[in-house]
Amino acid sequence: MNPPWWKTCVAYQIYSRSFCDSNGDGVGDLRGIISKLDYLASLGIGMVWLCPVYASPNDDNGYDISDYEAIQPDFGTQEDWIALRDGLHARGIRLVMDLVANHSSDEHAWFVESRTAKDSGKRDWYIWRPPAADGGPPNDWQSVFGGPAWEYDAATSEYYLHLFSKKQPDLNWESTAFRTELFAMMRRWVALGIDGFRMDVINLISKPDGLGAGGNEGSMDRALNGPRMRDYLAEMRREVFAGTDLVTIGETPGMPLELAREVTDERAPLLDMQFHFEHVDLDHAPGVSKWDSTPMAMPALRATLSRWQDGMEPHGWNSLYLGNHDQPRAVSRYGDDGRYRRESATLLMTLLLTLKGTPFIYQGDEIGMANVAFDSIADYRDIETLNAWRWLTDTRGLDTASALAMIRKKSRDNARTPMQWSAAPNAGFSAAAPWIGPNPDYTGHNVAAAEADPDSVLHYTRRLIALRQGTPALHSGRYRLLDAEHPALWLYERTSEMGRCVVALNFSDTTQPLPPALAELPCLLTNHHNPAADTLAAWEARILGPT
Ligand code: GLC
Repeated sequence: MNPPWWKTCVAYQIYSRSFCDSNGDGVGDLRGIISKLDYLASLGIGMVWLCPVYASPNDDNGYDISDYEAIQPDFGTQEDWIALRDGLHARGIRLVMDLVANHSSDEHAWFVESRTAKDSGKRDWYIWRPPAADGGPPNDWQSVFGGPAWEYDAATSEYYLHLFSKKQPDLNWESTAFRTELFAMMRRWVALGIDGFRMDVINLISKPDGLGAGGNEGSMDRALNGPRMRDYLAEMRREVFAGTDLVTIGETPGMPLELAREVTDERAPLLDMQFHFEHVDLDHAPGVSKWDSTPMAMPALRATLSRWQDGMEPHGWNSLYLGNHDQPRAVSRYGDDGRYRRESATLLMTLLLTLKGTPFIYQGDEIGMANVAFDSIADYRDIETLNAWRWLTDTRGLDTASALAMIRKKSRDNARTPMQWSAAPNAGFSAAAPWIGPNPDYTGHNVAAAEADPDSVLHYTRRLIALRQGTPALHSGRYRLLDAEHPALWLYERTSEMGRCVVALNFSDTTQPLPPALAELPCLLTNHHNPAADTLAAWEARILGPT
């Protein structure tokens, strides 16, 4: 039996606001994406995940949706969306939309109605609770973006739950009427010819029993993987996806491996794949905050991803990513964005595209885009970053230089600066000043320059995708780690009945001897100009085989 389409294709994530602005208002839009369709096709990708383009007051850049079926005017019109869909499909690229259904915007008509009265027809579409005995919030949960997870609403003297910003009230999946309407809305998108959904924080949808009934509920982690999550996902699968070949991709922070394996079990899947967070949390100082960084060491990355590679066998399936719109740039985090920028960016691309699972390339990583170091907090836009700044400087009392250093390292805005198309003003992204400034390094690092340079990360990425597509062991072969202890080399093989490939990655800036058995294998691809058979140069990546 042929594998489903989403197991053999490479995905590309578009952060719509920052990809390409066609109408000179400083915000990326659908027509901008359409103008880059041939570029997307030239990469060899088979799926685009489009970050939210729905109507939104933009408190969290579109992850606060006020109408699930309207296109945000900044991005264009329904006709533009149809043209994008058709343009992708004409090039053999599937379109996956973002589904943000753990919460809506507080400006969504559902919430507007819900907050009017305790007996409003949609009261129970959101999570309302009376104040605690002292008049304060129903429990001590803190929101992901900082501050209490409950907001008092004077109109009815109750609090509503918001795990993210207060403009993102959590929807109440306990309500059958809500779920019925949600699934109907999803079916209408399916009827419009989409190819799947990436589901935002989908493992937060089932809140623990007895929530806010008084007393301290403990950490907000109790909202993760809640008691009825499986039921809701099963119902959604039945109601929306039965009989289709659409892909469902969960974003699931804090979902343990065992559960992820169960949820994506191909024999009875609730989701086809999911994004775990373990490797992107490795450099968070435990028990402090994501802003307090510890070094990102390759052996920990190797151990974590190897655990997921092995752990999802034989029936689960991994989504693979090293960066996205919520994370710092991969080359700055796991590589060396200074002296070895090209080498380490291509090495990381090799890793991403040779693990088992569906790889997601984040826009700009194919040209090695790096973190930005804005001069001042005034240049940052992200709500999480701005809240963190207040917390770091006011609550924790850090001086501005120390706080800015932390922000520069971890801010989500690192990934949200405009896509660097050329050395023209604003990185060729827009004719006007963009909504967030470009990374000043765009003059040297951009698509036009990369197209002209045969050694660029871009050309290497294309070669790598083509090689993966043409080499069954690289998309379906089983992963096996060859050396769990090496301090600098990550060596693994991928084996299927169709053959075996070995991947050798040097995560260091010194030359490393290659184990003799590997030195004899034919080289399929390397990111180095003059590879020596028995050594790997600094940040060299080599794919050997097939044997
Ligand atoms: C997800 C999104 C992130 C957003 C959050 C709340 O983690 O990827 O960008 O802020 O959910 O919707």
